[in-house]
Amino acid sequence: MESVDKLREELLAAVEAAGDLDALEQVRVAALGKKGRITDQMKGLGALDPDQRRATGQALNTLKDAVAEALDARKAAMEGAALDARLGEERIDVTLPVRPEETGRIHPISQVIEEIVTVLGDMGFGIAEGPDVEDDWHNFTALNIPADHPARQDHDTFYLPGPDGADAGRLVLRTHTSPVQIRTMQAGPPPYRVIVPGRTYRCDYDATHSPMFHQVEGLLVDEKTHMGHLKGCLEDFCRAFFGIDDLPVRFRPSYFPFTEPSAEVDIGCTREGGELKIGRGGDWLEVLGAGMVNPNVLRNCGVDPEKYQGFAFGMGVERMAMLKYGVPDLRTFYESDLRWLRHYGFASLDMPTLTGGLNR
Ligand code: PHE
Repeated sequence: MESVDKLREELLAAVEAAGDLDALEQVRVAALGKKGRITDQMKGLGALDPDQRRATGQALNTLKDAVAEALDARKAAMEGAALDARLGEERIDVTLPVRPEETGRIHPISQVIEEIVTVLGDMGFGIAEGPDVEDDWHNFTALNIPADHPARQDHDTFYLPGPDGADAGRLVLRTHTSPVQIRTMQAGPPPYRVIVPGRTYRCDYDATHSPMFHQVEGLLVDEKTHMGHLKGCLEDFCRAFFGIDDLPVRFRPSYFPFTEPSAEVDIGCTREGGELKIGRGGDWLEVLGAGMVNPNVLRNCGVDPEKYQGFAFGMGVERMAMLKYGVPDLRTFYESDLRWLRHYGFASLDMPTLTGGLNR
């Protein structure tokens, strides 16, 4: 009979030395298999006298357990390492189409754009669009923001490299939808009555800012358009959009280079115990920028400011959606989390209409 201690040393060393799962399996068979060395020793027990048989039998059983345990531990370690290696190597193909959902949901951004368009469309505004990649003139200069104007610094602009890497002639990702005011006026004679839903870009990222976001612009220019029209239009809009007939709407003096005078539009709210509620209640919340189109802007587009005047406004779609539907963090709009979409999304038949209702 072999010495049990020597056998233990040899077998445990073989377990340690096994380089992969196949080698390990060979070690297991050689030790514990039908013709394995431990099995062999067990078979030899019958030839021993009773005292020796008991002592050696116990030692062999202990050895068998120890070897089995060592084999399991080594196997687990190998499988863990193999998984780590696979995880390090494999890539997810994000271009694969998503798995079909049982029922799709409309994203709140799409829904809110649809709602805004429904209200303003009913007032007679048509839809205009423009490019996301703009030139400096349409995004800034024509809007009365010349090169040295401090308002340029208010927009954290994404610039594209210009010809030969120079700054001159470089394009920008539009920082607002206002350049479409310019494009609309350049395209033909007044009157103009358009809204512009679209993507906009600023280099900014936190709970209320995303580098890509959405705005809806409005432009109305005619011969006798005045500030009363602006106020009536936006008052009606806010009340219809939020679905609150007696919603207080306030115009607060402000500044934009492309409007004069300019105003910030606030709606009524309460903030009791940290909870924001839109409606009558003595507190105010800013929702829109607006004003009478600056005569310089009309002139830049070849429109005679002695004959025509009008108003413009702009609002952030994410902000409107967050306020109306209680979304606390703007970044969640772009995380593509299906649980979030199931909660905040809309059924595909929830299309907003003025008669069917805008508000769930
Ligand atoms: N373009 C402005 C902004 O992005 C909003 C605005 C539009 C203000 C039209 C007045 C008139 O902040």
